[in-house]
Amino acid sequence: MQFSTKTTAPEKTRTGCAIIPVLGGKPAASGTAIDAASGGALAAAIARGDLAAKAGSTLLIGLSGVIERVLLVSLGDSGPITEKAFTDAARSALRSLQTTGARDAVSWLGEAEVIDRGAGWKARTQALLARDLAYRFDTMKSKPDPAPRGPGSLAIGCGRTDVSAINTALKLATALSDGTDLARDLGNLPGNVCTPAYLADTARKLGKQFGLKVEVLERKQMESLKMGSLLAVAQGSDLPPKFIVIRYEGGAAKAAPIVLVGKGITFDTGGISLKPAPEMDEMKFDMCGAASVLGTMRAIAGIGPRVNLIGVIPACENMPSGRATRPGDVVTSMSGQTIEILNTDAEGRLILCDALTYVERFKPAAVIDIATLTGACVVALGNHHSGLFTRSDTLASELAGCGREAGDTCWRMPIDDEYQEGLKSNFADMGNVGGRAGGAITAACFLSRFTKSYEWAHLDIAGTAWKSGAQKGASGRPVGLLTQFVLARAAS
Ligand code: BES
Ligand code: MN
Ligand code: ZN
Repeated sequence: MQFSTKTTAPEKTRTGCAIIPVLGGKPAASGTAIDAASGGALAAAIARGDLAAKAGSTLLIGLSGVIERVLLVSLGDSGPITEKAFTDAARSALRSLQTTGARDAVSWLGEAEVIDRGAGWKARTQALLARDLAYRFDTMKSKPDPAPRGPGSLAIGCGRTDVSAINTALKLATALSDGTDLARDLGNLPGNVCTPAYLADTARKLGKQFGLKVEVLERKQMESLKMGSLLAVAQGSDLPPKFIVIRYEGGAAKAAPIVLVGKGITFDTGGISLKPAPEMDEMKFDMCGAASVLGTMRAIAGIGPRVNLIGVIPACENMPSGRATRPGDVVTSMSGQTIEILNTDAEGRLILCDALTYVERFKPAAVIDIATLTGACVVALGNHHSGLFTRSDTLASELAGCGREAGDTCWRMPIDDEYQEGLKSNFADMGNVGGRAGGAITAACFLSRFTKSYEWAHLDIAGTAWKSGAQKGASGRPVGLLTQFVLARAAS
């Protein structure tokens, strides 16, 4: 989808559909101008009561002339509206637009005033919504989905003074949507297609496209590095594990990098601690942490900020087989700490711990790991916020703020030392599971034992990375949050 700005007078702006905000029952200035040029059709329809007052209600009016259609959108009361009211009304307008025959559209919704938000934010919001609504995943169907995708281009109507802010916002929204779409595609692909090798190839393609350095370590190299924990998970699968390192170097050569570590379990059966059959198909989404790392790399490479960013992805399958790890097996992690694998289904932490040790070599400014780590996190927080775990109060407030800014929120959870007790083992330095209680927290505590030498946060995205039920599919989260965080660090 193409985005642009239009500064011509609304009534003279040629378009398949003009989207006009109606506030407190009155059309905004663009609507008044179009109304005057079209014989009062809009005012008459509003006076008849054809447009419901409820925010988000829409009314399509056919015109003849340079403007083929007008889509009126109620934005509620007159006066400045909230971010949420604007976003909800814009989503509803863009959704209605998809069902019209318009091939392009110009939106004047920016004429509505939003509390504490300017023209750039309003343009970014509309562009992100338009891309989100246009997203389809039909590559695995024999024929493409017949559902409407909406117009191929959307222009933001505005005054000249706002053009540069809006163009910047549109460029950012396009790069962010490209990254989010990539993360969604990877998540939605089935486990027989999106394998560890497929993730590695995707990283290599991104590298070629954007000039990023990509390195893929094979099993042999993981053995030399003594990644005994990661290899214990990979050994039950016939597919070879891949350890992917992808670098964006936009900052000074000496500037410490931000490192993102994404869980890349391309299918999680649970291993010998086998999961029950119902909904096991959803464990193809167990690489959504990895997908969010690749999506963020793509978004950042598309925007081009002055910052160094490294993505690290331990990728393998968790399968039961004659070679699979047994419950009770003891392995030595790359850090030298030994782990009793009491439950082979707690595999995410086992691959992440070696990746978290590996990244010490980068002397990172901050490390964030992203993982569909625990069902317990879904129980604790549901599907709205990702779980945020960190010892650092500053990193916690930074990430929480970026989440709010991006509309991709996270909520801080505790990782006090009291919870470490659950990981005690009679046979090794630690077990890989605590009890059922506080399962998301003991998982984070396990990871914390491998992150002592740098500033670190863990995002548990088990509840936010995909939707179940009729809307089953990957959300692309938390690419928005991570991209916001990297951009904020680059600007500071
Ligand atoms: N990938 C799962 C976590 C998961 C489960 C995410 C369900 C979303 C929905 C992870 O590998 C896992 O199996 N975790 C176990 C940990 C337990 C054995 C301590 C869990 O959450 O049940
Ligand atoms: Mn598991
Ligand atoms: Zn898993």
